[in-house]
Amino acid sequence: MADGSSTWVATPNIALIKYWGRRDAALNLPCNSSISITLGEEVQTKTSVDFDPKLARDELFLNGKKAGAEETKRAARVLNVVREKAGIAAKARVVSSNNFPTKAGIASSASGFAALACASCDAAGLKMGRKELSILARMGSGSACRSVLGGFVEWKAGKQRGGRDSYSVQLAQKSHWKGIVDIVAITDAGRKKIGSEKGMDITVKTSKLFKKRLLEVPSRLSRMRRAIRERDFEALAALCMEDSDSMHASMAESRPPIVYLNETSKKIMRVVREMNARGGRSVAGYTFDAGPNAHVITRKKDAKKVGAMLRKIRGVERLFTCGVGGGPRKAAY
Ligand code: PMV
Repeated sequence: MADGSSTWVATPNIALIKYWGRRDAALNLPCNSSISITLGEEVQTKTSVDFDPKLARDELFLNGKKAGAEETKRAARVLNVVREKAGIAAKARVVSSNNFPTKAGIASSASGFAALACASCDAAGLKMGRKELSILARMGSGSACRSVLGGFVEWKAGKQRGGRDSYSVQLAQKSHWKGIVDIVAITDAGRKKIGSEKGMDITVKTSKLFKKRLLEVPSRLSRMRRAIRERDFEALAALCMEDSDSMHASMAESRPPIVYLNETSKKIMRVVREMNARGGRSVAGYTFDAGPNAHVITRKKDAKKVGAMLRKIRGVERLFTCGVGGGPRKAAY
């Protein structure tokens, strides 16, 4: 029996084939399917939900500070669905904290809404499967629907209007390919200037390159599925760089242009390419979300060398090395 409160830990995911562009903004339905790796608990969000009949309205605390109306409203999109399904009226106190910088291109929204979906269902006494949790987390932020599963994950774009077929499935468990690591290089820990939802809506409306991107993505998705299935790192690294470059080119071609990368991000891209060329093999692949921080995907055997190389780049403030994660789990408060 639920006692009205629950705490869950979830982790961000890094998209190898990106979600950028919505066909339905209210339901966060994407224009294309995407593939990601759920990260290990080196980077994590811990979220507690307490449904309390004494509260007059929902309250959200992010990293120790009371959140503003916009963020609280976004959390309520998830809480409202849970209340409706569970048949409860009580408002909720949500306390969430990250051990990594918020809104800096490491998807704190993904881990945040995945943890919120799991904790709020549990606190309300709802038993939901991964598909339902994925759809619920998607209401908060699109990419969050991938963080309800561990390992290697595909978010199926779906075709239906109501989005019942737009949810994530696991392509492979974390044990399938334990040797993969993501070295996150922080180049700017500040908040990003333009939120991803606003940014992607501008790209869909104004970028011609984005239309071309949509035609290319299905082939990259199937090649990425194969690379994961066969643990083909050369292909994974090449495809993730290709897809990140394609997304950022579409953004840059939008009107007004949307630019998330900074000079240090570009330096990292050059250094990774040079390192691969020098080694005559893919030592690493870079990918960037809606921010200037690099995710450098490599293998454990090369991680030390890649980390040392990144540390030498001026403008790299900090590195987090993350393995592949197992997905959300219930935690002590
Ligand atoms: O889920 P959102 O609204 O934070 O958008 C995420 C978009 C990217 O991180 C840039 C790509 C992705 O697939 O995670």
